[in-house]
Amino acid sequence: MASKLTPYLFRSAVRPVRIASRVQCRPFTASTRFGSDALHVHRDTPENNANIPFKFTEQNNKLVDEILKRYPPQYKKAAVMPILDLGQRQHGFTSLSVMNEVARILEMPPMRVYEVATFYTMYNRDPVGKWHLQVCTTTPCQLGGCGSDKIVQAIKDHLGITPGHTTEDGLFTFVEVECLGACVNAPMIQINDDYYEDLTPETTVALLKALQASAKHVETTASSSNVEGGKGALTGDDKNVKSGSEVGEGGGKIYEVDGVKVPSPGPMSGRKTCENLAGLTNLTSEPWSTEVFRKDL
Ligand code: FES
Repeated sequence: MASKLTPYLFRSAVRPVRIASRVQCRPFTASTRFGSDALHVHRDTPENNANIPFKFTEQNNKLVDEILKRYPPQYKKAAVMPILDLGQRQHGFTSLSVMNEVARILEMPPMRVYEVATFYTMYNRDPVGKWHLQVCTTTPCQLGGCGSDKIVQAIKDHLGITPGHTTEDGLFTFVEVECLGACVNAPMIQINDDYYEDLTPETTVALLKALQASAKHVETTASSSNVEGGKGALTGDDKNVKSGSEVGEGGGKIYEVDGVKVPSPGPMSGRKTCENLAGLTNLTSEPWSTEVFRKDL
């Protein structure tokens, strides 16, 4: 009997010693803790507090009515995202007043609107510059072309700001974002609603310079014609735009307004979309038979 119990007694005696000898505390980790670059806790600021009145313009009110028609009346809160977007476009960013007005229109608790606006990064909870530069730094853009690291560096060097900041003149806000779905034309950047693709550091700087020149031009024109504000950007909607016939240094098309040249959105390498830059590599010969095609084409 004693010989049967010996191994058990031995193991029971050794176990506490083994446990006691283990390190009982977690070691400190030396790596940096990365937090989100967006503050999701509201703090009242002079430009963002509930006392700032916000109402949709007459034109946007008509758009709100149009949007609401897409949803059954009892589910009108489903329109929260497009109406928040409209508010952001009118006001420049999704302020507390914009969110409160959307909640009032949709008859939903303001907290439900805050939850949506703070979840989706497309809603800017702080004011952004006239041009919101969103540089994609996800893996395909890091590896494609010259790589997004060089684009980020070119922007930093030219504008003198790091991601998450706005230039002092209020023209550019620069952020790094995840994949924007244009990986085939990497590296790319989204500026407001437009994509600029196949970038190099040179074409990026040329683009920024063109935007700066257009802002200066608009301010000069506005001040000479006594137009209030004078901060509108040149866009393809301007009446005196000469569109896309000229080709810029990088190979992309440019448009011109009153002598100021701005690259058109899209690939800046001369590609039309995402075709092979080296030309066709297949489907280069005549089809072997016409029988497979419709005769009426
Ligand atoms: S990784 Fe940059 S657009 Fe997809």
